[in-house]
Amino acid sequence: TTSSNKTVTTVAHTNIALIKYWGKQDSELIIPYTSSLSLTLDQFYTQTSVQFNANLSEDRITIDDHVVTGTGSKRVHDFLELVRQESGLNLSAEVNSTNHVPTAAGLASSASAFAALAAAASKAAGMNLSLTDLSRLARRGSGSACRSIFGGFVEWQKGFDDASSFAVPIETRHLNDIRIVALTVEKHQKPVSSRKGMAFSVKTSPYYPTWIKVVDADLANIKAAIKDNDFTRFGTISELNAMRMHALTLSADPDFLYFTGDTLVAMNEVKRLRHSGIECYYTIDAGPNIKIICQQANVKVITYTFSTLFGPTKVTVAKPGPGVKYL
Ligand code: PMV
Repeated sequence: TTSSNKTVTTVAHTNIALIKYWGKQDSELIIPYTSSLSLTLDQFYTQTSVQFNANLSEDRITIDDHVVTGTGSKRVHDFLELVRQESGLNLSAEVNSTNHVPTAAGLASSASAFAALAAAASKAAGMNLSLTDLSRLARRGSGSACRSIFGGFVEWQKGFDDASSFAVPIETRHLNDIRIVALTVEKHQKPVSSRKGMAFSVKTSPYYPTWIKVVDADLANIKAAIKDNDFTRFGTISELNAMRMHALTLSADPDFLYFTGDTLVAMNEVKRLRHSGIECYYTIDAGPNIKIICQQANVKVITYTFSTLFGPTKVTVAKPGPGVKYL
């Protein structure tokens, strides 16, 4: 047991999955049934500082300037326990985390939050993890967080146990004018968390075994599209894969749905624009908000269209973003 007082500060960006992660094989270790592929985004990030301190009798967790306790801090506390276990350091921690996600963006911050926490806490505990091991550690906080360790396009290789399930960056200069226009149609919390939603889908959707097969093909196809710098194929596969994920909620028992009426309005508008020659596609996570996938050349007209429909504060444009950084 070393004693460590140094404060470590990190920044990690959030990511959007184009091939979705939806279902755990092992919910304790967070080993998914399928691999997934994402793009890290420049606009949305979490900054986190961690210090292990012998003067503290328990973990002190501050998120966005509010001290959090009880169930609100349980996931962070459990994660710190894991870091103590792995590092052998037996001290309580002071954690200070700020989410820089435009309030209107409607993007989940758990990916950036657990990526930043994994990097800050492990380093503050005296561990010097490789990026692969950081990705494995972040995965234990929130599955999608393992992808936020890296910038640009990232593949989470599902693996089969704790050692083999981690993300790897896809080294490419292709599709670098890709943009994600995040559209917030709804600010309220999702009715079914992704954790519960995926568990119901795995357990009750008769289509789940098919999903596992389909993702394999979607993933191979989207990687080929990246390799060929083929935006049309990239966008088409992304939109299809997102709809296939949501089909698992519609086919669950009882069924549930993340879309609202406004989600459908936005989906139809993306299709209308596309048919009029403005190339764009959508993807949707476990909530009502949609992310429009396009290229730089069409950002203006797309932003204008959706600002007119939903209001300018609901629209945020993101580019590919970087991996985790130590400040
Ligand atoms: O990392 P989690 O447990 O919040 O799950 C993320 C689930 C989706 O965002 C819907 C898909 C994904 O791959 O990020």
